[in-house]
Amino acid sequence: MQHVSSSPREVRFGRPSSRVGRLIWTAALLTASLASGPGWAGDAKAGRKAAVACQTCHGLDGLSKLPEAPNLAGQVEPYLVKALTEYRDGTRRNEIMNVVAKPLTDAEIANLAAYYGSIQIDVLPPG
Ligand code: HEC
Repeated sequence: MQHVSSSPREVRFGRPSSRVGRLIWTAALLTASLASGPGWAGDAKAGRKAAVACQTCHGLDGLSKLPEAPNLAGQVEPYLVKALTEYRDGTRRNEIMNVVAKPLTDAEIANLAAYYGSIQIDVLPPG
């Protein structure tokens, strides 16, 4: 008798959590396809040409030429896409990068991210 009253609660609990699970899964798939799906795959060669506009600060080799500018060489590609998109849309604020990113299309961002992300780096931790 007591089990009868507890089992509907389990069912009620089970439904929303699996809906949430599906939402999370859908969001993860969407994120993955936005970042690296076939329609958004960046062209590293085109990105290299576009990176001429970035070289004064980030270097064509992705190594910073200014104390305030970060290295981009070998950076995680979806992270580069995210950062550039946020600068463009103004959700990440920086005087320089908001201006630099403003005219970039999604394709140009994907290309730049593909170029800088594909630069091979060697890591030698200290000590
Ligand atoms: C005049 C110098 C300058 C130019 C040109 C420039 N950047 Fe930047 N960039 C910066 C600075 C400074 C920052 C750090 C901004 C901050 O603190 O958010 C930055 C940050 C970034 C970041 C974020 C990196 C991270 O680790 O979060 C990316 C990505 C980036 N720049 C890409 C580019 C690309 C691609 C171009 C060319 C289209 C470009 N930048 C041109 C100065 C520059």
